[in-house]
Amino acid sequence: MDKHITKLITQSAIKNVIIGLGATITHDYRKRDLTVVCLLDGSLIFTAHLLQQIKIPVNLYSLKVSSYEGKSSTGQLKYKTEDLIFCKNKDILLIDDILDSGLTLSTMVKEIKTAGAKSVRTCVLLDKQIDRQIKIEPDYKAFDIENEFVVGFGMDYNGLYRNLPYIGVLKDK
Ligand code: IMP
Ligand code: MG
Repeated sequence: MDKHITKLITQSAIKNVIIGLGATITHDYRKRDLTVVCLLDGSLIFTAHLLQQIKIPVNLYSLKVSSYEGKSSTGQLKYKTEDLIFCKNKDILLIDDILDSGLTLSTMVKEIKTAGAKSVRTCVLLDKQIDRQIKIEPDYKAFDIENEFVVGFGMDYNGLYRNLPYIGVLKDK
């Protein structure tokens, strides 16, 4: 079926909020060695923009994680545990594009702690306002949104629309 996209958050609004978020993170981690973990593919663009607004030295690691097919979660997270050995004794800031059911963030926080991280905090571009079964609140977030399926600024529908510079709601025509 044909899709259409309604603009929800503009490019300039995203940019402004990320500048503020970067300043807060810079302040909070000024006395620590910060290691950012980017969950691919969705948080690639958000992480790239946010990193430029963090004004202290940062280590970056990326992890490929997936759970979604089309517009819904499969309920199963795919990733490689052996990719997490770098977390040992590090102050980790875990970055994801969107907090939805909470499965991705809660699972990865648990895994990163198990891998021996010194501390773990989370940062998301979007916090979907739903009554989630897994109770998890991000430490840092850019925007709250309603329970809608969004694309752009890194987020996809079946692999498409990640390249949109704004965030839009995807609907059937
Ligand atoms: P959770 O594990 O249910 O919290 O979902 C988090 C992951 O699902 C995110 O990292 C996204 O990749 C994907 N996701 C959830 N909602 C959306 C959406 O509205 N648009 C695109 N991807 C989404
Ligand atoms: Mg994702």
